[in-house]
Amino acid sequence: MEVADGLSTVVPEHPAAGRVMATIFYEPSTRTRLSFEAAMIRLGGAVISTENAAQMSSAAKGESLRDTIRIVSGYADVIVLRHHDQGSAAIAAEVAPVPVVNAGDGPGEHPTQALLDAYTIRRRRGGLEQLHTVFLGDSLYGRTVHSLCLLLAQYPGQRHTFVSPPEAEPPGHLLDALREAGVEITVLTDVQAAVHDADVLYVTRVQKERFTDLGRYQAASGRYWVGSELLAALPERAMILHPLPRLQELPEATDADPRAAYFEQARLGIPIRMALLGRALGVL
Ligand code: NCD
Repeated sequence: MEVADGLSTVVPEHPAAGRVMATIFYEPSTRTRLSFEAAMIRLGGAVISTENAAQMSSAAKGESLRDTIRIVSGYADVIVLRHHDQGSAAIAAEVAPVPVVNAGDGPGEHPTQALLDAYTIRRRRGGLEQLHTVFLGDSLYGRTVHSLCLLLAQYPGQRHTFVSPPEAEPPGHLLDALREAGVEITVLTDVQAAVHDADVLYVTRVQKERFTDLGRYQAASGRYWVGSELLAALPERAMILHPLPRLQELPEATDADPRAAYFEQARLGIPIRMALLGRALGVL
């Protein structure tokens, strides 16, 4: 089966025929929900979806997440959940008799994004070992950052450099977990100094919706961006990733740079999510 952009897979035709995936999203999404749905359709399965679950599901009537999941488990063979509370996917998995995929739990984690991020790095670079990753942006609320650094920490020779505004520095428990896994960590404010030997520049937007104090958000936003000076300091071998959506931190002028890998990264969500759904459903 031809998946996307010349990516061939060894997937048999329609392995998920007759299976149903439910996407329940309490937070906005373009890439994650649509790529999960496209992946399921490409596997031959069907999709039921509530894209604005906070307003359009019985959550608006006061139904608990647990009850919603109990009910949807009776309709679908796999549930993909995005929710604003950290730990919500784990709660859903406790009550669901079918597999639950975490598509983002508030400021917690976004593990399927980490899989496609790592896949992009591996395809461009040939491997994930001995990697220097510079995380530029929101390392406090950026769940894609949390999941990617924990995934990379499973490979030998990792160096992680965090460059964030003081309002969005990586949480202490994350740094502890990374140190314990043997990752060499640097926290800097000067991005020029950080990127000269980077393999990956992983850029994120400051997560406005997670800030309880708008003043703190305003102080944190607009502080960093990928400009011509930064691009000049970044090695030729490096790649620029961004989970998207982007704001001012990643100007469109960067798109023409051969190191810009973020559209390829978004596309690779399809084969990754096909593989994941196939495994979750036991059909691949
Ligand atoms: C990210 C998310 O939702 O955490 N987007 C995505 O899934 N590709 C990043 C973000 O919203 O900034």
